Amino acid sequence: MTDRVAVHPGSFDPLTNGHLYIIERARQLCDRLVLALLVNDEKKPIFTLAERKRMIREDVDKNHGAEVEVREFSGLLVDFAHTIGARMIVRGLRAMSDFEYEFQMALMNRRLAPNVETVFLMAKEEYSYVSSRLVKEVARLGGDVSGLTPPGINEALKKAFRS
Ligand code: PNS
Repeated sequence: MTDRVAVHPGSFDPLTNGHLYIIERARQLCDRLVLALLVNDEKKPIFTLAERKRMIREDVDKNHGAEVEVREFSGLLVDFAHTIGARMIVRGLRAMSDFEYEFQMALMNRRLAPNVETVFLMAKEEYSYVSSRLVKEVARLGGDVSGLTPPGINEALKKAFRS
């Protein structure tokens, strides 16, 4: 039987504990999980792609569950999924507010690539309000985001907003 490859796409700017929870659960569903970072400077990320990749590698537990690979992609997600042999797209769902956007993406991706399935995993309750956007906003305004992102990312956020 061939390996089950799943792709978990996103901006991860930065990785939060909410992402980590979804990653750990996704690893139970596949043999290889590819975290796919969208190359999109229009979103004006606070961390470069190289920084985000490094942070993810530092915080994903190497000894537990399916192998995790961190890659970048541009263009259509389904094209990238085909390139890496992924038949599953994993996305996290936090609240109803996520649903409409995710629903549209899932149906568009299905139209483009009927053989690729989008699978939604529910957020951990305690992180269901946590987003990279809010974490950045709070950190920028000097608020405490410890417990919502891994410690290394907390420090990186403090540093980024100090300058
Ligand atoms: O973490 P994000 O920013 O919500 O992730 C969004 C992402 C990367 C999943 C989405 O923007 C995406 O898939 N972009 C690639 C372009 C694409 O395939 N667009 C059509 C899909 S509807």
